[in-house]
Amino acid sequence: MDCAITVRDLDLYYGTFQALKKVPLDVMRHRITALIGPSGCGKSTLLRTLNRMNDLVPGVRIQGQILLEGRDIYAADMDVCALRKRVGMVFQRPNPFPLSIRDNVTFGLRVAGQTDRDVQDEVVEQSLKGAWLWDQLKDQLNRSALELPMDQQQRLCVARVLAVEPEVILMDEPCSALDPIATARIEELMLDLKTRYTIVIVTHNMQQAARISDYSGYMLLGDMVEFGATSGVFTSPKDKRTQDYVSGRYG
Ligand SMILES: Nc1ncnc2c1ncn2[C@@H]1O[C@H](COP(=O)(O)OP(=O)(O)OP(=O)(O)O)[C@@H](O)[C@H]1O
Ligand SMILES: [Mg+2]
Repeated sequence: MDCAITVRDLDLYYGTFQALKKVPLDVMRHRITALIGPSGCGKSTLLRTLNRMNDLVPGVRIQGQILLEGRDIYAADMDVCALRKRVGMVFQRPNPFPLSIRDNVTFGLRVAGQTDRDVQDEVVEQSLKGAWLWDQLKDQLNRSALELPMDQQQRLCVARVLAVEPEVILMDEPCSALDPIATARIEELMLDLKTRYTIVIVTHNMQQAARISDYSGYMLLGDMVEFGATSGVFTSPKDKRTQDYVSGRYG
C-alpha cells in the first residue's frame, strides 16, 4: 500500500459533542490530500488528530485507529514529540516565533540539543531553500522573523517544519491570510514539496483543492461523505451532498 496514514472508524468527542463520526481516510504518500466542507464540519479536528494536537484540548475522547506507516499513533508507546516531528503542522495564520529568521528555523534542532553551528547552518540553508526563501533571506538571517511580509512568514513556518525532516506536513487553511499572489506561491511550493513529502491540507477554497490536490475528502457534520481522487470528487461526485457542495449550491 502507498498509504502514509490510514484512519479507520475515527470517532472524536469534545465532551459530549461528537465532532467526528466513524471517519475513514487514506493519505497517500507523496500526494496532496485536501479536506473540504463547510465551516464546523470537522476538517481541522480531523487534521489535528493526525499528529495528536487534539491531545492538548481538555475533554477530548477518541476511538478508532490512526496508523502512520502501519503503526498506531495512539498506542501507549508512541513518543508524541517524535510523532509531531514526523507529522509537522502549518497553521492558518503565520506564527513565526519572535526570534530571528535563523533561530526560527533552528528552533526544533536546538530543542533537541543540536548545538553544532555547522549542522545548524546547513539545516537553515536547506530548509530555507526548501521553502523558496533562501535567495531572498540568506543575507538577513539575523533579522526578526516578525518583520517579514505575511507570505514570507508563512513560508518561514514551512521552513521551520522542514528543518526537523518530517514525513507528512499538515496545513490548516495555510493561504487564508494571504493575498492571491502569495497564495499562488504557496500552492506552487506545495506542488514542489509533494515530491518529497506527504501533504494534507484543509481548505475552504474549492478552486484551490481542485487545482493542487490529488485526493479530496468532503466532510459534513463530522462525516466523511465522500473521499477519492480529486478529479472524480469534483467532476463526478457519487453523493448528492458532495454534488451540491462542489457545484456551489451549499456551504
Ligand atoms: N476545542 C473544542 N471544544 C469543543 N468543541 C469544539 C472544539 N473545537 C472544535 N469544536 C467543534 O467541533 C466541530 C468541528 O470543528 P472544526 O474546527 O474541526 O471544524 P472545521 O471544519 O475546521 O471548521 P472551519 O471551516 O470553520 O475551520 C464544530 O462544531 C466546533 O464547534
Ligand atoms: Mg478549521
